[in-house]
Amino acid sequence: MAEALRIGIAGLGTVGASAMRVLAGKAAELTRQCGRDLVVTAVSARDRSRDRGIELGAAEWFDDPVDMARTADIDVFVELIGGDEGPAHACVKAALEAGRHVVTANKALLAKHGVALAEIAESKGVLLNYEAAVAGGIPIIKTMREAMAGNTVSRVFGILNGTCNYILTRMEAEGLSFDECLKDAQRLGYAEADPTFDIEGHDTAHKLAILTSLAFGCRISADDIYMEGISNISQADIQAAGELGYRIKLLGVAQQTESGIEQRVHPTMVPTASVIAQVHGVTNAVAVETDILGELLLSGPGAGGNATASAVVGDIADIAKSRPGFQHGPVFGRPARELNPYRKARMRSHEGGYFIRLTVHDRVGVFAAVAKRMADNEISLESIVQRAPKSMNGTKKTVILVTHATTEAAVRKAVEGVTKDGHLVDKPQVIRIERAD
Ligand code: HSE
Repeated sequence: MAEALRIGIAGLGTVGASAMRVLAGKAAELTRQCGRDLVVTAVSARDRSRDRGIELGAAEWFDDPVDMARTADIDVFVELIGGDEGPAHACVKAALEAGRHVVTANKALLAKHGVALAEIAESKGVLLNYEAAVAGGIPIIKTMREAMAGNTVSRVFGILNGTCNYILTRMEAEGLSFDECLKDAQRLGYAEADPTFDIEGHDTAHKLAILTSLAFGCRISADDIYMEGISNISQADIQAAGELGYRIKLLGVAQQTESGIEQRVHPTMVPTASVIAQVHGVTNAVAVETDILGELLLSGPGAGGNATASAVVGDIADIAKSRPGFQHGPVFGRPARELNPYRKARMRSHEGGYFIRLTVHDRVGVFAAVAKRMADNEISLESIVQRAPKSMNGTKKTVILVTHATTEAAVRKAVEGVTKDGHLVDKPQVIRIERAD
């Protein structure tokens, strides 16, 4: 049998502890699959004394993950610390420079430094595997990087954050408050250390930036992503969406347009009958549209210890199976130096349908004024409904508009006009509608 693969794990939080458990619990099966033992020989975490419910065995302990990356007796460095700078960046860079393979679940790191790290990995002839960084346990990286060569992608979109999908699902199904659902997501180990990364869309944006590079063969450009989170989605939006035949999901969308690549993260209305609308709870889903394959949709557990550990262990096993001296495939599907510059499409040029919810004073002419602002901006309306919910005591009304395809620029101008007219009693709500089958 070949020599054991020596693994160093940095970060023993929810995912790190789950990965240790899987490696120990499935050791015999992994050895049969890989033709060699997979042994954790080094670990690093902040607090040595913490009880994580796992056996560290004979693994050497390192207080400093960078020291571990440089000096430990390991073939593979597994980074599960998180964060786009600091120790996570330093130790991944050090491990690659030392000629060690790296496995990481760190989407923030890859969104910021992925191309530079890929250049190091490729120059050293080692693997940088990151299946766990996008959509938890769904094997979307391997699918896009390896199985879809030759396809030209037109759009990739998906539910990429388990915490947000969990919150939106429970708000709709159980009428619970946003805060209650977020607390449960934290308790279940889905949320980031700082949950604003989840609910304000950063986590989805990091994952989308990686998918965009794989989809369009371009350099990663996370700073060019238009981003809105779900913290201002209310029960009123969820109910109105349901009545109109839609469901609200936080989507990440990257799309090739004539003027460049559009990357956006925002709450989105998708038809209730579409497949993506059926993706509930912590489940993630990624849809890829291409010229050869047509539409592919993968869905599965998107967050939590076991889902993420499944992808981490799969990446480690790939390294264990790779042959010594074999030239490894490029990190982002083509050599880093061959990635095209990112060409950004302007968000104001985005075309699609829109849901607009306005809370207005109940007085003569408001409805007509709103309709006029839409017409002045050449926005064609699919529907316009006025309601007077009992909770509004007869002094205010809700006007809900659904537009046909129009541009972001037109909608922004129309809503600015309505606001200037002085009829609104509350902030206007605008939610984009996405085409989905
Ligand atoms: N906080 C992330 C989520 C974890 O909720 O999807 C997986 O990246």
